[in-house]
Amino acid sequence: MAFIPAIRIDVYICIKIKALQETQPFVAKTFAGLEGILAQELQSLGATDVQETHRAVTFNGTKETMYKANYQARTAIRILKPIAEFPAANETELYREISKINWSQYLDLHKTFAIDASVSDSKMTHSKYVALKAKDAIVDQFSRKMGDRPNVDTDFPDLRINLFLHNDHCVMSFDSSSISLHKRGYRKETGEAPLNEVLAAGMILLSGWDKKSNFVDPMCGSGTLLIEAALIANGIPCGYYREFYGFKKWPDFDKDLWEKVKTDAFSEQDEFEYEIVGNEWSTEMVEKAIRNINNAKLHHDIQIVHGDIRNFIPPDGPGTVVVNPPYGERLQTKDIVGLYAKMGDSFKQNFPGYNAWVISSDIEALKRLGLHPTRKIELWNGPLLCKFEKFELYKGSKKSNYQELDQQ
Ligand SMILES: C[S@@+](CC[C@H](N)C(=O)[O-])C[C@H]1O[C@@H](n2cnc3c(N)ncnc32)[C@H](O)[C@@H]1O
Repeated sequence: MAFIPAIRIDVYICIKIKALQETQPFVAKTFAGLEGILAQELQSLGATDVQETHRAVTFNGTKETMYKANYQARTAIRILKPIAEFPAANETELYREISKINWSQYLDLHKTFAIDASVSDSKMTHSKYVALKAKDAIVDQFSRKMGDRPNVDTDFPDLRINLFLHNDHCVMSFDSSSISLHKRGYRKETGEAPLNEVLAAGMILLSGWDKKSNFVDPMCGSGTLLIEAALIANGIPCGYYREFYGFKKWPDFDKDLWEKVKTDAFSEQDEFEYEIVGNEWSTEMVEKAIRNINNAKLHHDIQIVHGDIRNFIPPDGPGTVVVNPPYGERLQTKDIVGLYAKMGDSFKQNFPGYNAWVISSDIEALKRLGLHPTRKIELWNGPLLCKFEKFELYKGSKKSNYQELDQQ
């Protein structure tokens, strides 16, 4: 083995530590309404200069922070690493600016790439056209220099590039997640209107459930809220079941650091001593929920009851209900208003001591619960603008409040 003088080892260690500690800007994308929760999550993971923007949170951090954000931030959809920004009022400007970047730093002829573009308030209005022009600028640079070009792979590229064009100004980033972080890896089966995992986690965190009481979803479908609650309760990182992240294909991927991030994420695991229970009336959905729960190896933590919400008796309160009942166009439940009235009756009679949070885009149906919301939060479930409302279900004498409201 070659002799390495001690002084050179010191220099090597210093360079490595500096590289690990160097901070750079990142952007974490999320859903509208979850920016505040995501900002808190990122802060707790060591991010600095955390700023909320529309459907995103910007922050500074090291490579380690970026790995942690991908593995542990339950409300992040993807983590972007900006590499360039420039004015781009037209395709010539866009092409010229992208051509100025030396792409052989990041790609070679054997690597694949993909470009996602989004466009708002700009002269160029077609995101697909913007992505096409950006692709041309990259492949033309290779063709000029090497007579050949790297290929595009939209599914599993070695490098996924994100272009955000707003007010004729382009931010170009590398997508360290590559595949949306809502794809946790545990959910193999869904129903007609499954809740996005990131939205489900965000709703639970917004509800303020403190893991010191029971958690119930009385219309649990494929079990997304129950599984996300069990992950939170047991301190299991949201990325635990997932193998693929974009940064693993980057030339600077640090396997040791990644292993350390995964191990550290488990170091402060809480003991959860309460119940997580779901109820669902469709036999098919009960079977799907059970398969998803088994996939996540959470069968010791979650119970599923098969039946109508009207007959469902939850474990004794206190506890938190988070429920995503049918609404909107995807679920053609015939008597939506009747269903919400039934849910309201069940809450009043069977859930004393619980805080119930209901998400719905159907404002009229929400009124038919016959309960006063004590908080209202706006959230988007896909294209549907929803209200996420909190109802406090009292024990004992305060039950009379419900009767008064029923008669209004
Ligand atoms: C919007 S889906 C819930 C989706 C779920 N959050 C998920 O991620 O899969 C609503 C669920 O309520 C169930 N449901 C409808 N009416 C019900 C009732 N009266 N009692 C129990 N479940 C009911 C439906 O079968 C459906 O699975």
